[in-house]
Amino acid sequence: MAKTCPPTCASSVERQFQPSSSASDAFATITKEMSGMSILDNIEKQPVSQTASSSTNGSGCPDLEEAATSASCSNQWQVPEPNPNLYTGPYRGIGTAEDYGSGQLPPPKFSIAPMMEYTDNHYRYFARLLTRRTWLWTEMVVDSTINHKVGAEADRWLEFNVCQKPVVLQLGGSKPETLAAASKVARQYGYTELNLNTGCPSERVAGAGCFGAQLMQDPHRVAACTSAMAEASGLPVTVKCRIGVDDFDTYDWLCHFIRVVSENSPVRHFIIHARKAFLKGLSPAQNRTIPPLRREYALALARDFPHLRFTVNGVFKGCHDAAATYAEARELGFSNIEGIMVGRAAVDKPWTALADADRALFGVENPCRSRRHLIEQYLEYAKSAVGRDKPGLPSARQLMKPLLNLFHGERNCSLWKKSVDAALREHKTLEAVLAQSLPVLPEEVLDSPPPVLAPSQSPLLLQAPLPQCEEPQPNLGLGLDVRLGERAHELASEADKLVAGAA
Ligand SMILES: Cc1cc2nc3c(=O)[nH]c(=O)nc-3n(C[C@H](O)[C@H](O)[C@H](O)COP(=O)(O)O)c2cc1C
Repeated sequence: MAKTCPPTCASSVERQFQPSSSASDAFATITKEMSGMSILDNIEKQPVSQTASSSTNGSGCPDLEEAATSASCSNQWQVPEPNPNLYTGPYRGIGTAEDYGSGQLPPPKFSIAPMMEYTDNHYRYFARLLTRRTWLWTEMVVDSTINHKVGAEADRWLEFNVCQKPVVLQLGGSKPETLAAASKVARQYGYTELNLNTGCPSERVAGAGCFGAQLMQDPHRVAACTSAMAEASGLPVTVKCRIGVDDFDTYDWLCHFIRVVSENSPVRHFIIHARKAFLKGLSPAQNRTIPPLRREYALALARDFPHLRFTVNGVFKGCHDAAATYAEARELGFSNIEGIMVGRAAVDKPWTALADADRALFGVENPCRSRRHLIEQYLEYAKSAVGRDKPGLPSARQLMKPLLNLFHGERNCSLWKKSVDAALREHKTLEAVLAQSLPVLPEEVLDSPPPVLAPSQSPLLLQAPLPQCEEPQPNLGLGLDVRLGERAHELASEADKLVAGAA
């Protein structure tokens, strides 16, 4: 991505954040009726100084300021403005890849991980209201699911609201021909990139014929699959993987995987979930907690494959950890640590994980000034989503799901959740559920600006000595910068000191 600075784009950023009067009015009326007061009255009264754009880093984390400053060229990135009614979907006659394929997107510095049952269209729209520049990912979609759908039914699986761009479609599969067919269909929807899942540890999935994490044991097949995906779609293709599988867990083995895939396919960007996977004996959830986290493996890969790009994933708490990690990677000399991916935190604590992302990572104004502001905009989306495919659907419960953890850790959060539960039993619309439940939350919680948090620990990447390849990697010379090799030795001794200090 080119990063030249335009004179200023502030006005276009500001333009994106105008609340819709129709949703505002409806929400205000309902709220007033239910609680005798208007939530929106307060939004209007909120002083400009409380908006996120004016927040300075009060947490004493200079890294974040630095990261934001280094990203100050970002206003040129073209991010579509949220519009509840604008979807991609060739069969609906709404749009094709060409309609949505142009425009300069922000770099993938920060992304929200693919999560089955969570990162659906509703969640992604919600996340996009919180951050305009974070890369969003779909849940994994199995190739055969796409290949069996035609026409409007394919739209229902693949369409997405245009504002979600940049958005990555993650495919699951293990056969080049079926992955190619699915990629060809997916291309028409305007996804930014495709990704192949080689990290899913589900025994069921792995058992269904070399699929998910089991694919890591067959890097030539991964190369064939990703080549076929790229050729059929014309889109960039990335791979999301673990750092090992079962007994195959040495750093040499991981290097072999990366080398074979990158040398035999167009894949140049790997998303490293920095734990190994156990295909037998651990559930997918246990596989996200029990195998030790080894983020330093991603750093070592960046050292050993300087011509490739890496995104690090695993237990980052949100945008502030991401900004600090990004800065740490650059301080260590690794500009090919391209991004940080956050999974569970983006669902469990979406406000703290995401609301300050545009400022902390991209140096631009955050789109949401408060959770009240966010809910107001999400409600506008929810209203337009109901009945799009089937009368009365999605249900209020489905639409409520992304909001459920919005007040995590705040006063009256559990009371709010109970109130939501009760309201969902009584009401069919999200407006009614919110109008009944929100009044239990303190005004200051609803109106507080995005929080600026210190990173959860330091360092975030260099937590142990970098592993070294014991076996020579025949083609590592490709593009290798000798200075990085020297730097690697320095890093190893820095890490040794760090570990000795901690002990
Ligand atoms: C509920 C859930 C569903 C997930 N589904 C997928 C998936 O569809 N594809 C995938 O590659 N990873 C999936 N993951 C793994 C995440 O993408 C991510 O790699 C993992 O949660 C580690 O990141 P975290 O520690 O930030 O959560 C899932 C994780 C969770 C918690």
